[in-house]
Amino acid sequence: MEALSFGIPCSKVFVMTGSEWWRTAVIYQIYPRSFADSNGDGMGDLAGIESRLPALRDLGIDAIWLSPFYTSPQRDAGYDVADYCDVDPLFGTLDDFASLQATAHNLGIRVIVDLVPNHSSSDHPWFQAALAAGPGSAERGHYIFRDGKGVNGQLPPNNWESVFGGLAWTRVMEADGTPGQWYLHLFDSSQPDFDWQSPWVREQFRDVLRFWLDRGADGFRVDVAHGMIKAAGLPDYTPPADGGSMGGATVLEPGVVADPAATAPYWAQPGVHEIYRDWRLVLDEYPGDRILAAEAWVDPLSHVAEWVRPDEMHQAFNFAYLETLWGGPALRRVIDDSLAAFSAVGAPSTWVLSNHDVVRHASRLALTGDNLQGHGIGPKTVGLPDAVVGLRRARAASALMLALPGSSYLYQGEELGLPEVVDLPDSAREDPTWFRTNGERYGRDGCRVPLPWVGSAPSYGFGPTAASWLPQPAIWGELARDVQEGVPTSTLELYKLALRLRREHGLGLGSVSWLNGLGDAVVAFTNGSVTVVANTGAASITLPAGEVLLASEPLTGRTLPGDTTAWLRA
Ligand code: GLC
Repeated sequence: MEALSFGIPCSKVFVMTGSEWWRTAVIYQIYPRSFADSNGDGMGDLAGIESRLPALRDLGIDAIWLSPFYTSPQRDAGYDVADYCDVDPLFGTLDDFASLQATAHNLGIRVIVDLVPNHSSSDHPWFQAALAAGPGSAERGHYIFRDGKGVNGQLPPNNWESVFGGLAWTRVMEADGTPGQWYLHLFDSSQPDFDWQSPWVREQFRDVLRFWLDRGADGFRVDVAHGMIKAAGLPDYTPPADGGSMGGATVLEPGVVADPAATAPYWAQPGVHEIYRDWRLVLDEYPGDRILAAEAWVDPLSHVAEWVRPDEMHQAFNFAYLETLWGGPALRRVIDDSLAAFSAVGAPSTWVLSNHDVVRHASRLALTGDNLQGHGIGPKTVGLPDAVVGLRRARAASALMLALPGSSYLYQGEELGLPEVVDLPDSAREDPTWFRTNGERYGRDGCRVPLPWVGSAPSYGFGPTAASWLPQPAIWGELARDVQEGVPTSTLELYKLALRLRREHGLGLGSVSWLNGLGDAVVAFTNGSVTVVANTGAASITLPAGEVLLASEPLTGRTLPGDTTAWLRA
């Protein structure tokens, strides 16, 4: 952390801890496979990202988070890393990363990279060495190998299931050709879990952190940050039927909070925290306010806040917010809970509505009934959500989120109002959840379809050719960025306005003061000089006094229709 003193006598030195930009930042998630393709092979790449950074500067974001672009066999779209310190040729080279980062910094955009420390790819040389070295070797100790149960070790060491479906264990063939030990993989069988009790593993990851910090990365989004330590003895565990696959509750209903004592022996184990304290010390050796952001699917929010205590990470994703259904009481409650939980440890709250693992909120917010199980990693097959209702609610929800104090995460394409693509041909699907559940869970491909930049171009301007690793739907022509640019009623212009006003009014640093009396379905508060009114119900209401600064739908007079958010000058 940068410490600046101002030549004041030692006893009265003021210490400034850098800008702490992350407390209010709007961070835009780029999914490199699907953002922009520079060479026409149908797969996004780093040069493509760099060429499109001016559009993100114009949008008004503070930082980008890049999902993995490291060397990888791509069995889980890059979350299966075979070399933590190199770029996969699919995406470019280390020089391309340096160039992207320099351009981003010149545009005033910080760059956060993704760190995947719970598991590597089975192609990683460390895992290959573990396979070759055999049972009892130091190399096997870097991962979680165990003998099987049963007379011949033919049964898995315990009953754990993979987040992607099926067993969390795979048996290996030993060098002599006989079936041997089993290794743990909380995700795909191509993603063996590290044993984080190993000092060797810890040392390797300190080096990985330094590798990217030395190259100027502004921080890390830490994948599966609640999963790295497993309970001693690896006891059997059967998750509750309604539990989210990554650990949190599937849907947050008012009054329902998962029992932390019932936490799986592979999620949220207390031992994870010393890892982050150690990493924090590494980051603090570097100037410039570098950050750690946790992907920790943990319930309730007061538990999530443990990841962002002052000597641990800086931010944790607020998945409780993402999982909250569209409705006044639930939203007010989760906002209160979030602000209370994070401020109790001196951290900013974060807010998020979409990412590369969940149904895009322009579709999710219109899901009903059984389809609500479409939350969480590897959603179950969803029916066709009402696109008009979904987009309207998404615009209202985004306008509400961007008025909240703290830091917000955006997922590429939400600023265009992109829906989930629910009708991908099965032959195009790549998500391991689809394969590991025999199609019972359709997985996450539907939120990962390459972006539309130019409505009338091949691949909608994603790249210079018609190629796209997932087929793009015809609606991309209407939702393309160039079609929305400059159109005041477009979702793109709504996001730009919200981000500009958010900055001008300092909303990220503000606080929430509830405004009651507008009805149960209405979420209304004042944050500094702005009053925000989000009507989640069907019936119109009359807006309180104040000049309208922003509205998620066109307004007539002082009437705020259902599923609409307005910002007023307070
Ligand atoms: C995280 C990622 C997800 C990935 C999984 C395994 O949840 O966000 O995309 O599949 O971890 O790395």
